[in-house]
Amino acid sequence: MEVIIAIKTRRSIRHYTPQPVADDVIAQIIEAGIWAPSGLNNQPWRFVIIKSKDAKEELAQCTSYSRIVQESQVCICVFYHIPSGYNRDKDILGIGACIQNMLLAAHDRGLGAVWLGEILNKKQKVNALCALSSDYELMAVIALGYPNEKGTSTRHPLEHFIIKTL
Ligand SMILES: Cc1cc2nc3c(=O)[nH]c(=O)nc-3n(C[C@H](O)[C@H](O)[C@H](O)COP(=O)(O)O)c2cc1C
Repeated sequence: MEVIIAIKTRRSIRHYTPQPVADDVIAQIIEAGIWAPSGLNNQPWRFVIIKSKDAKEELAQCTSYSRIVQESQVCICVFYHIPSGYNRDKDILGIGACIQNMLLAAHDRGLGAVWLGEILNKKQKVNALCALSSDYELMAVIALGYPNEKGTSTRHPLEHFIIKTL
C-alpha cells in the first residue's frame, strides 16, 4: 500500500473477527516498529506479545477498555527500556513513532488495530503480569485483529492546524 494512502485510510479499529493472526504477521508488524527513528538511534522500545486467552484476560483487567482487549486476537505491549534511554522526552517521541509504524503496518496487512493509552493508569499492574522489572515502563498497548467494523474518525481541515507561515 502506498504510504500516504495507508496514513490517510488507517483508522482505530475496536471490533475484531475471531480469525487468528499468524505469528509471522505479528513479527512483520513489530519489524515495522523497530525501523522507526529514535534519538541517537538508541531504539528504546521493547515488546511483550500477549496471545493466550488467560494472559489477555489478565491484561483486560488493567483497563476500562477490557472488551477491546478480550475481543482482540493479540495485544502488543510496548515498553520503554529505561536503561537504553538518553532523554526521556526524545525517547518517548521515538516510541510514538514506533507505535505509529506498527499501526500502519497492521493496516497494510489488512488488520485492524487500536492504540490503547488508558491502560497506562495501571502500568505497574501490567509490568507485574508481564513479570518485568521497573527497567521497563509501559507506553501503550496495541490491540490487533482482523477488523469487524469500519473506523469513522475525521479530522479538522488543514487550516485549523497551521498557526502561521512566516
Ligand atoms: C496516545 C493515545 C492514546 C489512546 N488511547 C486510547 C484508549 O485508551 N482507548 C481507545 O479506544 N482509543 C485510544 N486511542 C485511539 C484514539 O481514540 C484515536 O486514535 C482517535 O480517536 C483518532 O481516531 P483514528 O485513530 O481512527 O484516526 C489513543 C490514541 C493515542 C494516540
